[in-house]
Parts: sequence; C-alpha cells; structure tokens
Amino acid sequence: MLPEYYQFHHPTKVMYGEGLVGDFAHELEELGVKNYFLVSDHVVDGLGLIQPIREGLAEAGFRITGEFYDVPQDASVEAVESISRQAKDSGAEGLIAVGGGSVIDAAKAANFIFSEGGDLIADYSGAATLVRPLKPFIVIPTTAGTGSENTLVAVIYDVANKTKLLFSDKFLLPDLAVLDPLMTRSLPPGLTASTGMDALTHAVESYVGVDASPHSEALAVAAIKNIFQYLVRATKNGDDLEARGGMLIAANMAGSAFSHSMVGCVHAMGHAVGGLTRVPHGVANAILLPHGMEYNFEVSKEKYAALAPVMGVDTTGMSVDEAARAAIAAVRDLLRQLNALDAIPVRLKDAGVPHESLPAIAEAAAEDGTIVYNPREVEAEEILIHVRNAY
Ligand SMILES: [Fe+2]
Repeated sequence: MLPEYYQFHHPTKVMYGEGLVGDFAHELEELGVKNYFLVSDHVVDGLGLIQPIREGLAEAGFRITGEFYDVPQDASVEAVESISRQAKDSGAEGLIAVGGGSVIDAAKAANFIFSEGGDLIADYSGAATLVRPLKPFIVIPTTAGTGSENTLVAVIYDVANKTKLLFSDKFLLPDLAVLDPLMTRSLPPGLTASTGMDALTHAVESYVGVDASPHSEALAVAAIKNIFQYLVRATKNGDDLEARGGMLIAANMAGSAFSHSMVGCVHAMGHAVGGLTRVPHGVANAILLPHGMEYNFEVSKEKYAALAPVMGVDTTGMSVDEAARAAIAAVRDLLRQLNALDAIPVRLKDAGVPHESLPAIAEAAAEDGTIVYNPREVEAEEILIHVRNAY
C-alpha cells in the first residue's frame, strides 16, 4: 500500500572512494568558503587519519582555522558549546567533522550556535527550529553505523539530567559526506560490530515504521542486504576494504532511510539503556533489535517476511508468519556470529546493565521521542516483558 503523502529530501552530496579523504577538497569550491574548523577526536588523530585531510585541503587552497578533539563518548551539550565558541573565535566559516556518531552529532549541533547564535537547549531542542541554511558542514565518517553524515538529526547527551536530547531539522543535513573505507580500516571488532548493528537497526526500524515510504524502504532494503553480506567480514578482518566500503555505504543508506522515516521501539529502549546505564548506543541496539522486532511482530510480520530473503533466508514454501520468524532468527544469528568473534554481548546483563534498572528502562522507553514512529503503541508494562527477555 502506498502512503497517502510523503516527500524525500536529500540535499547531501555523497562521495565514495578509497583514499578519497585526501582528494575531495575541489568539491568545496561550490560551498563558497575557504576557512574550516575541524572536529574530531584524539583516537582518530592518533591513527594518522586527519593528516591526509589536512594536506588535501591545504593543497587545494583551503585553511583549517582550528581543531577540536575533546568530544566525549556521547556528544555533550558542553562539547557542542565549546566547538561553536572555538570555531567562531578561530575565524572559521564552515565545519568539518571527522569521526563517529558523537563527533558528527556534536559538530552538527554546534552548527546551530556557530551559525545562528543563541542557546542550544532553549532555542533549538526538538524539530524544525531553523528558517534558513546553516554554515557549510562536511562530514567524513570513521565508523559505519550512525549514518549521521546523511541525517537531519543530532542526539546530544544532557549530562545534568541524564537524558538524550533530540534535535531535528532539514538544515542540519550536511552539505557533503565523504565515504572512504581507509577511514574505518582501524576500527576494532567491537566497534565495527556494534556500529554496524546500529545501522541494521536504523534500516529495520525505518522499514517497518509508520512513516516508511517507497524511497526510504528501498534504501533500507539495500542497507540490510549489504550489512548481511559485509558486517561479519568487516568484523573478522578489518583490512577487508570491500567489506569496510560495503558497510560505510550501508550505514549511509540506512541513515538516509531513517532520516526520512525515523526509528522506533528498539531505539526507544536503546536510548533508555544508554541514558540510564551508559551502555554504548550500538551495543544496546544490537542486543535489543530482535526483541524490538518481537514486540512489533503482529503489526510488522508482513514486512519482516519481505525482509527475510534480503537477509539471505530461502523462504520458499514458508507462510508469512514463518518467514517473519525467520527474519528475526536471521538477526539473532548475525548477533550470535558477532558474539562468537568476541565483538558484542548478546544479553543486557553481559553489557553491564543492572537488573534493578529494567523497570526504569521500560518507563523511559515509553516516554522516548521515537515511539511515535513505532508501528505499535509503546506501553511501559508491555515493553518491559521484552526488556526482561533481552536481559
Ligand atoms: Fe542509532
């Protein structure tokens, strides 16, 4: 069935290529500014991943006015404010983010204040607070997971209130996303697996969500196919550049899918787990994905059945229920394969979640901003059953 109405807005230019980070600067000409402030982290810089970017920009006549490396594991309000202040003081006219989800989201949210001034939480929390484009923003991901280089959302951790704040606006979409498999080559197996499972969660949740559209579904399906093809390979052998590239592309496509169609109850539970217990986003989602799929089973089974062959299941002769069950089993199997590589836990207790926090996780999940997009209403009492199952 077609949606009554939808739109697909994708202004971000996506470029893919091995070694591209040293050779993309000519693409910046059309953005009209020469001075960029760079946001990354110490690990990425320590791996020598920034140097080719610096050299490529300098060769093409662009200037890096300053660099910020202190983004915490979860992008914080404090980091966002520091980035925008330092970028402004340095005389920058645009931002370049080189990193994983936290770095990208911190720089993305910093662009609010960097471009428009004001207070991050008071002026920009929520959706569609902007009336015009922000300053040029380039993203070079070093993980294949969040797809944040292709999304209109930023998630920022409010340390004082232990909550994750969601910012969403079409003007947050970066101008340029540079996908280079050499940038994810050094990612250790644990992060490869957890970020890849986050991308899978984006794809599956956007595919079954209430705002799914033919465009977002096509991207979600393509992402899921790539993830089942490449995630175990990339986790097993980080130097497998084809697998690294396949995962970067998958995460990017899943990012676009969920930027249009949002996510659902897995992210609701994942945000709650992350906010209350500090388990990394990708790890929480990886563990919770099959359980969230179970929660939505009755309303989403036809869609799950359609995904089963994409996940490599031969559904010949299966009923819708059987094929849908097989899709959930395929996700569990993928998680088990990654767990066998010592890359990711399968249960919340193995991720360090205290048992007594489960009711609070269910309560927080039922209040999360993503639940309005979930195909089934999320009630704390009902979702607690699945949170317990994940324990
Ligand atoms: Fe996510």
